[in-house]
Amino acid sequence: MDKPTMFQPYQAAPDIEVVPSYFPVPGLGILPINAFVLRAAEPVLVDTGQVLLCDEFMKTLSDVIDLADLRWLWLTHADPDHIGSLHRLLDEAPRLRVITTFLAVGKMSLFRPLPMDRVYLLNPGQSLRVGDRTLTAIRPPTYDAPETTGFYDSGSCAFFSADCLGALMSDPVEYAAEIEPAHLRQGLVKWMTVDSPWLHMTDNARFTAALNHVRELKPKVVLSAHLPAAQGMAETLLDYLAAVPAAEPFVGPDQPALEAMLAGTAAK
Ligand SMILES: [Fe+2]
Ligand SMILES: [Fe+2]
Repeated sequence: MDKPTMFQPYQAAPDIEVVPSYFPVPGLGILPINAFVLRAAEPVLVDTGQVLLCDEFMKTLSDVIDLADLRWLWLTHADPDHIGSLHRLLDEAPRLRVITTFLAVGKMSLFRPLPMDRVYLLNPGQSLRVGDRTLTAIRPPTYDAPETTGFYDSGSCAFFSADCLGALMSDPVEYAAEIEPAHLRQGLVKWMTVDSPWLHMTDNARFTAALNHVRELKPKVVLSAHLPAAQGMAETLLDYLAAVPAAEPFVGPDQPALEAMLAGTAAK
């Protein structure tokens, strides 16, 4: 895969569909970039895909759900791989209201403000009823933007973890269990060192407490923006994540490495 690509939606749970895409990361593999449709009584979209795939995302999403039925958008944070179709959706899904945070609204206002009458502010620890179930906002144990909120869904017992628990991969799959465990561990640890480099400076007891907070939820499925759907794997993934503070810090390619990459590309 040499460019960002949408993939076919698939089922993560009876009431949850994944709207997946992938993004190639030179030298490191591919990274899933997922949005999710949660078929609550008041349907919820979680994130809106990558900016580069806006048209493809809107088409794929429209095949999954009638945009007129969408009531909520849970925006985990304002990074370009999560807000790709945000304003298109505000235009084309008239009942949609954006669950987000004060900080995310502020960041969006720096380049494309959100209409305040379409916003619903929810902080970590607070809950929102969406018809038949309750969504409780959670600050995930790792994140790359301070406005990040994931959540726990009481209906599906799913933990939506935003960027946390993502993994670099070599090939697209639909379920994290399809990835060989050592490969998954390696890809998760690598991605987490890239995405949350501050993990190397964390107080271990506090980080363990954050991991235990997720463990205590006993999520049946973990839905990261950057991992195929992971059923019955929460303990395993959290054990992998616990290893990240002691892992080798990520250092990106420098200029000589970039020139070597470009020369390699040109030689093909
Ligand atoms: Fe992010
Ligand atoms: Fe992300």
